[in-house]
Amino acid sequence: MKLWSGRFTAELNDIAEEFNDSLPFDRQMYRQDINGSIAHCLMLGKCGIITQAEAETLSVALKAILADIDSGKLEPVGAEDIHSFVENELVSRVGNVGKKLHTARSRNDQVATDIRLYLRDSIDEQTELLKTLVVTLADKAEKEKATAMPAYTHMQKAQPTTLGHYLLAYANMFLRDAERLKDCRKRLNVLPLGSGACASTTFPIDREYTAKLLGFDGITQNSLDGVSDRDFSIEYLSCAVQAMLHLSRINEEFVYWSGEEFGYLILPDAFSTGSSIMPQKKNPDVNELLRGKCGRVVGDLVSMITVMKGLPLAYNKDMQEDKEPLFDATHTISLSLKVFTAFMNAVEFNRAKMNASAAGGHSCATECADYLADKGLPFRAAHEVTGKIVLYCIENGKTLQNLTVDEYKKFSPLFESDILKAVLPQNAIARRKIKGGCAVEEIERQLKVLRNALNNI
Ligand code: ARG
Repeated sequence: MKLWSGRFTAELNDIAEEFNDSLPFDRQMYRQDINGSIAHCLMLGKCGIITQAEAETLSVALKAILADIDSGKLEPVGAEDIHSFVENELVSRVGNVGKKLHTARSRNDQVATDIRLYLRDSIDEQTELLKTLVVTLADKAEKEKATAMPAYTHMQKAQPTTLGHYLLAYANMFLRDAERLKDCRKRLNVLPLGSGACASTTFPIDREYTAKLLGFDGITQNSLDGVSDRDFSIEYLSCAVQAMLHLSRINEEFVYWSGEEFGYLILPDAFSTGSSIMPQKKNPDVNELLRGKCGRVVGDLVSMITVMKGLPLAYNKDMQEDKEPLFDATHTISLSLKVFTAFMNAVEFNRAKMNASAAGGHSCATECADYLADKGLPFRAAHEVTGKIVLYCIENGKTLQNLTVDEYKKFSPLFESDILKAVLPQNAIARRKIKGGCAVEEIERQLKVLRNALNNI
């Protein structure tokens, strides 16, 4: 049964109906839709718009419908959308009183409410998933705080650092993602119900009461805005894109780290797959998918923005197109965070390979320049002298670590025997004690700050 058949004399064309229906996808919001309706009918009862007994009948039946869908006894099919499905089902269970549910409400403010409730649930789930990931990365960073490795710029070895430092960089990104979601939740958590179709309602409803029942912090202040606002969806999707971007970046590192040329990590069997033709292969498919999934969430954000662009006030059916991108993004990000956290728990790093790599590419050249600058040579001049030493090493197949003190002295009289210690990667790491650096004690401090920040989310 359509909710609007009164003024029509002919049935909707079959293809137009298939095109118009949103039940195949908005059924995912059945829980939020029914909870919204329960709060709405309790509010109608409290305000005397329907009787308390009617409110009770409606809410009991709605709870039963919810339980039946939850258990799989009732399947949402055969209606235009989830709102129509629930209302039809209600009327079939309680009769005429069911037809009172939609008093002082439109599907326009109902759907706006449902999406906010749906996204709030998603945000709560993903904030927890992000926090778990940050904890996992922090624990791993603590374990690897003394594992030396090269830090890269332009994908070339730049300066020695530690794996702990590296992993903490990503932990900070995911911490910001959790904070961003929490912030998005604040703006999202207001109730649009009561906005009606567009210009509100003549019934003396109590919107604050409904808001309280549904756990909203307040109500939307303007009914035209209430039904037509999807800023919160766009904001959520940007937060999702940002987190997916971070996942794609760290997984790109892991893809190349797992290759023979790097060999920095050992892919766990449980998180890699083989080839149908090459028997030797163990591929980083999970990491590649985590890198690739970002693309579809970016697509979801672009769809949403494009749907909203240029829409006049207030509700327009274009806005039904908001759901599939949103659902796709919420499913993608939740699954991605779960699988990546599990991967992080299983992955092992090849410490020996990383340590051996730390001094490659003359990555301690900055230490050499700093050594001279420390002895009074202006840094620019120290840079020039060190550049010449590096060139000498390249031309003679030497490294900054195996040059003799005499060789160093040929480039500057400021060099003394302690230069050989200064250019050791362990030394380069240990001396970077300043805030943000990679010395072990500084990583321990960073871990404390990070864990504190986590407790405040
Ligand atoms: N399925 C619709 C949507 O998602 C629900 C609102 C329908 N409102 C309407 N005026 N046709 O936007």
